[in-house]
Amino acid sequence: MSSYSADIKRITTNTLQEMKRQGTKIAMLTAYDFSLAKLVDRAGIDIILVGDSASNVMAGNETTLPITLDQMIYHAASVIRAVQRALVVVDLPFGSYQGDSLEALRSAIRIMKESGAHAVKLEGGAEIQESVQRILSAGIPVMGHLGLTPQSIYKFGTYTVRAKEEAEAAKLLSDAKLLQELGCFSIVLEKIPSQLAKKVSDSLYVPTIGIGAGSQTDGQVLVLQDMLGINKEFSPRFLRRYADLHQIITDAVGNYVKDVKAVDFPNEKEQY
Ligand code: KIV
Repeated sequence: MSSYSADIKRITTNTLQEMKRQGTKIAMLTAYDFSLAKLVDRAGIDIILVGDSASNVMAGNETTLPITLDQMIYHAASVIRAVQRALVVVDLPFGSYQGDSLEALRSAIRIMKESGAHAVKLEGGAEIQESVQRILSAGIPVMGHLGLTPQSIYKFGTYTVRAKEEAEAAKLLSDAKLLQELGCFSIVLEKIPSQLAKKVSDSLYVPTIGIGAGSQTDGQVLVLQDMLGINKEFSPRFLRRYADLHQIITDAVGNYVKDVKAVDFPNEKEQY
């Protein structure tokens, strides 16, 4: 497995656009804490997303809606302390940017100042245009997010594939072009048909990062705990599990409990 401990060249928003020009795929994963962010960064990931999926994964909430700006800043600061190479993007949480564009700017500034993150991500298209513009004009890089936008789950009603109908697909394409025009450096496309994701990706010069959007986007993103197989209950078609940490952790903890009960831990060498 590759490691980037020496000669670290930081990934920037320019690096990502160059990767798209050269046809090099971009690998992005979420992380919410210091220990895992360090592993993910050293293993060579290009972008770490401090996603508001922390609401589900770290706090056990059913949706991403409850997580607060303060909590996102806590996660982001922990990740930033670990990272040497990856670009770190942080989600603006629900309620921190939809009110008005000044509030959006204040939220983005707090994330950048208090966590040291490199960019923010917002969900939505034309309806958040003013907020995106205002954040960008303060010099803060913005990543867009279209398709299934989990902060709108109660509007959608389900987590099924978005933009299967022509009207929604056309709006998504026009939103993607708008976000690019405004100056977003990249756009996440979540759970949309692969044909549409290809069309959007081919129409843009900024890279698209897909999740459940097929192989033709410029990069891919997964939630770290999902791809590591920690959570067995979540099994969407797009998820590939690269490890079975559920089993590994369950076995390790079970063995520890057994050893403690049997007074087999600690042994002679494990004490002072
Ligand atoms: O919060 C998150 O993890 C995300 C990814 C699914 C793109 O937004």
